[in-house]
Amino acid sequence: MFDFWQSLLQALERLAMLPSLLHSVLPSLLYRKRRRDAVRTYERTMDDLLREIETLFESPLDAAKLLRMSARLQEQFAPKLQASDICMLPSYNYKLPSGLEHGTYMALDVGGSTFRVAVVELTGKNPGAKSMRIVTMKSYKIDNSVRCLKGTDFFDWMAEKVGTAIADPEVQKLSDNEKPFGMGLAWSFPVEQTSTRSGNLLAMGKGFRATEGTLGQDLSELIMAPCRRRNLPVRLDSIINDSSATLLSRAYEDPSTRFAVILGTGFNISVHLPLSALSPSKYKNYPTSFLASATHVLVNTELSMFGKNIFPTTRWDEHLNSTHLRPDFQPFEHLISGRYLGEIARLIIVEATRTAGLFSGKLPDKLSEPYTLDTTTLAALQLDTSKNLTSSTQLFSSLHPSCIPPSHSDVLFLRRLAELISKRAAAYLAAGIHSLWCLRIQAEGLTPQTAGTMAIGCNGSVIEKYPGFRDRCQRYLDELTGFSGANKGDGIRLEVAVESAVFGAAVSVACLEG
Ligand code: BGC
Repeated sequence: MFDFWQSLLQALERLAMLPSLLHSVLPSLLYRKRRRDAVRTYERTMDDLLREIETLFESPLDAAKLLRMSARLQEQFAPKLQASDICMLPSYNYKLPSGLEHGTYMALDVGGSTFRVAVVELTGKNPGAKSMRIVTMKSYKIDNSVRCLKGTDFFDWMAEKVGTAIADPEVQKLSDNEKPFGMGLAWSFPVEQTSTRSGNLLAMGKGFRATEGTLGQDLSELIMAPCRRRNLPVRLDSIINDSSATLLSRAYEDPSTRFAVILGTGFNISVHLPLSALSPSKYKNYPTSFLASATHVLVNTELSMFGKNIFPTTRWDEHLNSTHLRPDFQPFEHLISGRYLGEIARLIIVEATRTAGLFSGKLPDKLSEPYTLDTTTLAALQLDTSKNLTSSTQLFSSLHPSCIPPSHSDVLFLRRLAELISKRAAAYLAAGIHSLWCLRIQAEGLTPQTAGTMAIGCNGSVIEKYPGFRDRCQRYLDELTGFSGANKGDGIRLEVAVESAVFGAAVSVACLEG
């Protein structure tokens, strides 16, 4: 009935027949529309939905279940340690730094959202002084237009930025005109290393399209060819995955480091393992000199690719996966990394608005598009413990404007969502770290009782900055390693490794000179 009168009035307005009548009727129509929204019935209440979300997100997180996930991950590792050209990738770095290496190096860090070009100085162990220093650094945002650059266009973009960075007078002051700059590259994607300075390009996640037409080509040449065309005085000396760079950078300062975790836009873990943990076929093209001297090797596990059918998922995770550019490529990453936490929340919000009346049933426009809810917004919601949640309400409304502002209970729901999604991520990460801790202990012929404490270098926006994330993960780890038999106070210690990708890229070059 209401719709009939509304269409009739709209027709009259178009014909401009009854302008004065319209002015008197319209306000009452709008009032009736608002009331109609207020009494609109939904499939379920918000409380019901929240209870379901709590069960789905929290029930898998008790220690026994997490330990089972860890055990099943270890089963998934076994065949990949034998043969896989996309994960459990050995590097050519077998020595950890002594911490005495020194020199000035150029470091490139290609991350998921930023490309950084830095000059790094390593000064070795100096009592009371920092042993690593960024002399100068330029950061270039990798937005969606850069992520979508196909094939060599992406490497041209990189070379152009290296050129800009080198032209900077501060960098010029550090250059030795006789010699090209020696560069180390931290690459936040898988790479099949063919030497310390080269590697074949493997499939890239995080929405990048640079492998289109270049898959399997030499990464070093892809980067150096456009640098040469621009006459840039640079030489790529070392390529290393960003997780291995983090390990090297942390080990430079703390020799007990054997592990590194990256959890920012992407996720990965690097481990220092005995050579024998991987099948000989993994070293088929390695020089005999490497095999003669190495006892251990830095392994890029690409842990993001494991976990399919191990970690319990929800209908929102499944939707995320099925609509992803590369479904099933990185199931673990989809559950825990910064690129996806916001998207999981967005998918729940869309459902809650439609079926349970979140935001009075009106989805803020921007949230109908995939990947429009940033994980930093979840972090801000979780950080806001004030009674009225004023700052996070303001932030949310400014990022996601709507004609109906969010109510207090809407924002409380969002805050709870942020807590649940990040709590599950911290627990699943702990299960993943635990599985590799077990792998290493076994490969070293140790036991949880004899393994002592192991330091893990951590880097990335989620593990470094998401409120309470690292502490929560540490608590899960203490519980899991305790159940596995580690002595109290031993087990695993998460340690932040600030700027570790750039530092690690420099350390990797310095290690070659040692
Ligand atoms: C990539 C890894 C990288 C990690 C962290 C993942 O998506 O596959 O190679 O180390 O992100 O940046």
